[in-house]
Amino acid sequence: MPVVSAQTAKAPAAAKSSTKAPAKTSQNQLTTPAIESRVNALLAKMTLEEKIGQLVQYSAGAATGPTSGRTDDKDMIRKGQVGSLFNVTSARATNELQHIAVDESRLHIPLIFGLDVIHGFRTTFPLNLGLAATWDPDLVQKTARIAAQEASAAGVRWTFSPMVDIARDARWGRMSEGAGEDPFLGSAMARAYVRGYQGEHLDAPDSIVACAKHYVGYGAAEGGRDYNSTEISEHTLREYYLPPFRAAEQAGAATFMSAFNSLNGIPTSANPFTLKQILKKEWGFQGFVVSDWTSVSEIMAHGIAIDGATAARKAFLAGVDMDMQSNLYHQNMLKLVQSGKVSQTAIDDGVRRILRVKFAMGLFDHPYVDESKESGAFLRPESVAVAKTAASKSIVLLRNESVSGAPLLPLSAKVSSVALIGPLADDAGNMIGSWAALGRGEDAVTLRRALKQKLGDSRVHYAQGGNFLDATDSDISAAVTAAQSSDVAVLALGEDAPSMTGEAASRSWIGLPGRQQELLEKVAATGKPVVLILFSGRPLTLPWAFEHVPAVLAAWYPGVQAGNALADLLLGDAAPTGHLPLSWPRSVGQEPLYYNALNTGRPATDPDHPAEKGENKYVSRYLDEKSTPQYPFGYGLTYTSFHYGATSANAKEISVTSLQQALAAKSKNVLSVSADVTNTGSRAGETMAQLYARLDGTSIAMPVRMLKGFQSVTLAPGESRKVTFDVDAETFAFWGAENKFGVEPARVTLWVAPSSSEGEPTTLSITER
Ligand code: NOJ
Repeated sequence: MPVVSAQTAKAPAAAKSSTKAPAKTSQNQLTTPAIESRVNALLAKMTLEEKIGQLVQYSAGAATGPTSGRTDDKDMIRKGQVGSLFNVTSARATNELQHIAVDESRLHIPLIFGLDVIHGFRTTFPLNLGLAATWDPDLVQKTARIAAQEASAAGVRWTFSPMVDIARDARWGRMSEGAGEDPFLGSAMARAYVRGYQGEHLDAPDSIVACAKHYVGYGAAEGGRDYNSTEISEHTLREYYLPPFRAAEQAGAATFMSAFNSLNGIPTSANPFTLKQILKKEWGFQGFVVSDWTSVSEIMAHGIAIDGATAARKAFLAGVDMDMQSNLYHQNMLKLVQSGKVSQTAIDDGVRRILRVKFAMGLFDHPYVDESKESGAFLRPESVAVAKTAASKSIVLLRNESVSGAPLLPLSAKVSSVALIGPLADDAGNMIGSWAALGRGEDAVTLRRALKQKLGDSRVHYAQGGNFLDATDSDISAAVTAAQSSDVAVLALGEDAPSMTGEAASRSWIGLPGRQQELLEKVAATGKPVVLILFSGRPLTLPWAFEHVPAVLAAWYPGVQAGNALADLLLGDAAPTGHLPLSWPRSVGQEPLYYNALNTGRPATDPDHPAEKGENKYVSRYLDEKSTPQYPFGYGLTYTSFHYGATSANAKEISVTSLQQALAAKSKNVLSVSADVTNTGSRAGETMAQLYARLDGTSIAMPVRMLKGFQSVTLAPGESRKVTFDVDAETFAFWGAENKFGVEPARVTLWVAPSSSEGEPTTLSITER
């Protein structure tokens, strides 16, 4: 049996990295002596008004803030009263405004143009939750690089991405924009985005500045209701919510965005503990913090300021350097400095950070873009090819039961006709998902188009079956008729991306909207085999489907190549490789649901059974629902099967002292953990080997499992391979009861497994000395 280590496996960077791994690029890029001296020279020339101008950002179309009623944005740029604009999206428009700033303002300071380029600029890649489901940071980095090339061609050199919020509650609509529930996977994705956007050199004309958002805890909104308050202990913050931000910062993210939520009573856009203490002091972040849209003025609604001047002061002194859209720095900062409530030194620090980024990204040296090259940068064939790979790899096969003796998917090449049904079967606009920057539905290939291309018009019987929320009886009966006259029915159901996912799209009930469940059941009642493709920005609770529908795919929103990627998977020209970046709930009452939970003092001995099965009642569980998810974090099927052998490690004991030394020396390999993996099916295939750890006996309770590594393994039918993870000391380090990061004596359990609920573990000890 060949022995292959993590280094030679497909995703070595991810397998070997950790949430605190050393960065490739770093904050050092922002603070070279040359940059600092240019910043200082410019600062020395600036008036207080000009300095305050750098702290101000407006959106195009609401140029001087929602409360001002002013539209003299160009005049403000001329006077040096604006440091940044966003939502300006073409080379012509960015150049025009940049010329005003550079040619007509006294000190010629360029504007930095921002935009939400979150899963592509014109070439739309899968929505971010789908990108996370690839478990392929290298691929995600490629998508971010392409997004940077396209955005920068339009003069947009700053993206408000990546969103690295940990999301444990599927009711929260913005789960769709992030990487799911896990800090290790989330950190790998955070690094990938930052490296892709910022490239090797931040000052390259095709690099764009990344912005890690929403700092911090936004994903923990109580009840999953957007903008809601959060209560997160310092331990939980440091152990779970901060690591992806730290990873982004260590990868060199030049900006951060403060969030909408309050954290333990203090709004995160006025929170000195998270912004000043942790981000700027502990981590040494040298870039700048922008507020979220009007989050500075929302401090008043939160209740810790009763006027705009106080809100501006609290936000700024807490560490928010740039005011997005509130208009409050512009209106109040001069008086705040003149009255001594905000010091000149504090202003200089904020302005220095913004200028530092502008210099580091080369904006002073090349402020304009070549308008003639703009459109040529969009939708290049090689970019569209990456979009297809990303779409294919983002789709997770949840269920594939046998029909007439064989798994339903892939569909046999002999299938003579397919009924294609559902509101998402031919909706190009939805394929690009929510918040798609300059993405256009017309660029996207729907499943209907792709299937017709592959099978020919006459073999695809299409019936929409009604819309997301409305369907008539005749819509449904047309779909049933289409199914009756076909060999197999493929249903494309789910959420309407623009209205039901993303910001302000929390849902208290997360089943199929409208009459889609009824449509599904009626089509299934024809007796024709059904493939259900779910398009959604969150897991949907569909207990009936997961019991009765033989094949189910979670497609999220796959982007411009949606249809082509799906058609290949359906017909077996490609095999699914996606894995869940979250725990898929059985019912909404289980939320928040996440695999890396604490054990409790009374764990259910059989969490897969609710109380009526006769278990001890007095354990942590529901009376009327299982405690386990429908599908666990890390899960995903493919067209072959794999067997994972027992996990083994090359030591039974490691001392705290040796781990501490390894931590200090940042040594890479303190332990090797392996398992034999065998392809037990008849087709070559790819599995995602995942390394999980658990620590017992520690000063603070740690989760039942924590992801610590992952690597993709491709095996021929019948082939076995020893999959090895080289584990570093950080794998065993955590934030202890005193909120210090380090290692402690513990019993360690380790699993190499295909998901968070499988695997045969091994144990070892971390001993005192
Ligand atoms: C509000 C959103 O919360 C944030 O993610 C986004 O970057 C800003 N609006 C700007 O569009």
